[in-house]
Amino acid sequence: MFYYYGRKKQIAKYYPVPNYNTIIEPFAGAAAYSLYKNNWKKKVILIEKDKKVFDIWNWLIYSATVDDIKKMPELKIGEKSSEFLHIVHAATKMAFHFKTIKVTQILARNWEISRRVLAENLYKIKHWKIICGDYKNSPPACGMGKKKKRGDNFLRRRKSRLSTL
Ligand SMILES: C[S@@+](CC[C@H](N)C(=O)[O-])C[C@H]1O[C@@H](n2cnc3c(N)ncnc32)[C@H](O)[C@@H]1O
Repeated sequence: MFYYYGRKKQIAKYYPVPNYNTIIEPFAGAAAYSLYKNNWKKKVILIEKDKKVFDIWNWLIYSATVDDIKKMPELKIGEKSSEFLHIVHAATKMAFHFKTIKVTQILARNWEISRRVLAENLYKIKHWKIICGDYKNSPPACGMGKKKKRGDNFLRRRKSRLSTL
């Protein structure tokens, strides 16, 4: 969906196909495995401990519309931005430490691609969930499909606790 240093987009094809109806991606980042091929159709739960990354997914999943995405301005080379969603498109690990970034040619190009990809693929993630917290507190992976109600309640309790971390 968006550029993210360390994302698993290139190697997602080497991971096994999902065996269950729920995918839990515990180091969410750009969620490359959950977005690979038809994996997005599953019940997807992302877990991300970085609040800035969580905020991006939280907005994309629960609020953003295609119109909102299309209205996001293009970035001009040389201008500065302190938006974390822009900063991650700088394509370097160092960018994560920046509070403000000067838009380079690479960043502007990556952002242009992401704007299009986000708008085209937004519908895929609207049934997903995102939890802000450590992966160690992720919901139990086994049997979630069978005990749907119990799993959902667990998740809701867990989510309200984790979102305060
Ligand atoms: C390499 S990146 C993302 C990889 C991701 N699967 C992808 O394809 O984009 C790793 C992410 O995991 C998050 N992370 C690191 N430690 C974590 C932890 N203990 N629990 C949850 N998320 C964590 C980081 O904030 C970062 O966003």
